[in-house]
Formats: sequence, C-alpha cells, structure tokens
Amino acid sequence: MTQSLRAPAIAAARNGYAPHSRLQVGAALRSINGRVYAGCNVENASFSVGGCAERAAIAAAVLAEGKDFRLAAITVAAFDADGTALPISPCGACRQALIEFGEDAEVSFLDGDGHWRCQTAASLMPFRFVFPSR
Ligand code: THU
Repeated sequence: MTQSLRAPAIAAARNGYAPHSRLQVGAALRSINGRVYAGCNVENASFSVGGCAERAAIAAAVLAEGKDFRLAAITVAAFDADGTALPISPCGACRQALIEFGEDAEVSFLDGDGHWRCQTAASLMPFRFVFPSR
C-alpha cells in the first residue's frame, strides 16, 4: 500500500525549501478515497516559522476532501542537499497530526539500516494527547 507512495514522496522532497537545515523532506499520502496528496517542508529564516512535509500533505488533503478526510497511508522521504537519501521518521508533532486522521494509517519511512519500515500511526505515538472530555 505504501510502496506506490514512494515516488510522489521523493518528488515532493525535491521541491522542499530547506536552505537552513539542508534536509529536503517530502511526504505523500493516500486518503481512504484513494486519492494521493503530497507536501514538502518549507523553512524560514525565523526557524520556528518553518513547516514539515507531513503536515503540508495533510493540509492539501483537507483542502481537497474537507473535514471528512481520513488517512489510509503516508510515506516520508528525505534527502541531503547533494541528493543522498537519508533516514527520517515523522517528528512528534507530525505523529500527533497523523493520528488525528487515522490511527491505523500505515506510516512508511526509511530506517537507519536502509530499509523501508511500515508502522501504524498509533504505534508511533503512545500516550498521545487526547482532548479530555469534561
Ligand atoms: N521535517 C519534516 O518535514 N518532517 C518531519 O517529520 C521532521 C522534520 C523537516 C523540518 C525542517 O525543514 C527539516 O526537516 C529539519 O528539521
């Protein structure tokens, strides 16, 4: 399921705007409707203003599908400035964002051994924040 998301994730990473970290990140996701959306990181001279690829892809999906968007799978890819593929897994903020749209979504990323891993969103974020009911 996630394998076909690698090419669009890699293509998105090539467009990443990362002059500060020199880490270009792309993400491609599939909604449960079968549509694919991509996003890339966009950095800023004021570092905290920058944004991650995964949440850019989520924003594209929500824009297109609206509040009923549900995440089926997402693949993340990252490259150094010279085009070398680098291992990366979604940051904590992105994990929280992914779970919002699909606890069982497949999350795929390159691990430090050069293998593509695939885990559910929930497994990547134990004890996530849940808005308390009052
Ligand atoms: N980055 C992402 O796009 N996704 C992640 O899950 C982790 C980090 C980006 C943000 C920043 O542009 C660069 O990687 C270095 O932190």
